[in-house]
Amino acid sequence: EYADDAGGSPEPPAAPSSAAGRESSVIDVNPPRGTRDFPPEEMRLRNWLFDNFREVARILSFEEVDFPVLESEALFIRKAGEEITQQLYNFEDKGGRRVVLRPEITPSLARLVIKQGKSASLPLKWFTIGQCWRYERMTRGRRREHYQWNMDIIGVSRVRAEAELIQAIVMLFERLGISSLDVGIRVSSRKVLQAVLQMYAIPDHLFTEVCVIVDKMGKITREEMEKELISTGVSSEAVKGIIEVLSLKSLSKLEEVLGSDNEAVADLKKLFLLAEHYGYSNWISFDASVVRGLAYYTGIVFEAFDREGKLRAICGGGRYDKLLSTFGSDDIPACGFGFGDAVIVELLREKGLVPDLARQADDIVFPLDEELEGPASSIASSLRKRGRSVDLVEDKRLKWVFKHAERINASRLILVGNSEWRRGMVRVKILSTREEYEIKVDELG
Ligand code: HAM
Repeated sequence: EYADDAGGSPEPPAAPSSAAGRESSVIDVNPPRGTRDFPPEEMRLRNWLFDNFREVARILSFEEVDFPVLESEALFIRKAGEEITQQLYNFEDKGGRRVVLRPEITPSLARLVIKQGKSASLPLKWFTIGQCWRYERMTRGRRREHYQWNMDIIGVSRVRAEAELIQAIVMLFERLGISSLDVGIRVSSRKVLQAVLQMYAIPDHLFTEVCVIVDKMGKITREEMEKELISTGVSSEAVKGIIEVLSLKSLSKLEEVLGSDNEAVADLKKLFLLAEHYGYSNWISFDASVVRGLAYYTGIVFEAFDREGKLRAICGGGRYDKLLSTFGSDDIPACGFGFGDAVIVELLREKGLVPDLARQADDIVFPLDEELEGPASSIASSLRKRGRSVDLVEDKRLKWVFKHAERINASRLILVGNSEWRRGMVRVKILSTREEYEIKVDELG
């Protein structure tokens, strides 16, 4: 979080809200549990982070898109038992429509791709930054609203898409001062699990459900996981096989188990080869236990994590070649990731990498006398028209104004005094050098 207010305390009961009681009761100044205000310091940090997201997207030649935060509930109805569908902020609007505050952006993106239809020339490279809502149990870095930077490539079936997206993630980390000693990206493919299920002749329709259960590994006990898998109809022998394969951490071992003509093996080898050329090999590693909790992934999946293992996943994504067809369109290959704003800021704080983002102004204009408020206004106005950031201050002591200038990192203090003004002059103080001089008003800019 920007400010460490996550808190592990049990959830207090929601206060009763009756229209009658409202008149006399004092309002709670905290925003709803799990949500944040952004006072100026937090907003500066958020803008700095988003500027970095945007800059990386620009460098990789992605276009920005946006979607409503309020979406149709139908877009998020999925039957695989994912956590995300159980955490929906959903309700009926005044017109009787079922709507949700979106928990993620990918379904909206798929919707727009389908809507654009043939008019869109593939591939599309789209990015967006937007707020998402999930009714979560709150822990460190997990809250009920967060912003997500999404980058998605639509219409590329080759591993190039994954390679590009991982470059974007690595570039973002590097810009923030994070190295591959701090963070790693674990990569696998859902086709690994698919191959295992085929080995045990488990029917295809169980695949998604199995993925969602297997993703809980480490979050629930092994016995619980085995029980869940068996209750879907997977044999206990297959469960053993699944768990064995998911513990693999080397590609050559995977190749031994699945054979070199297996698609997962081929895709992953290609990605690791490309990574060498991009120059980010030291950031990525194969780890078969990465499955991801969302139903729609079909191929390579990846997650970035802090190497100390203190935080939850920093970002995650993968290939989802079949999502569009679940919405009734033809299949179009697609791949992308979501990168939240909460965990990364936790990590930056841990590493002392949060930049000093002070308020910044060019000039402060201060009339020393009340009757000079007119001239002070016209000076401020003409400087502002030239694009300078100007704070116009009045009704304060000079001492306060000097302090204020320091606080907002102003470069100049422009004092409008009577005797100078009569001669068409003002006093200027350069705050960095403490240099002071008189100057003609029309030479100020
Ligand atoms: P996700 O793994 O559910 O994937 O979320 C992506 C990222 O959003 C997480 O790694 C984390 O940084 C952040 N995030 C998720 N939930 C929370 C929360 N409750 N509090 C704080 N941060 C959170 C997706 O949402 C996919 N739609 C990503 C994607 C895009 N896949 C393909 N394209």
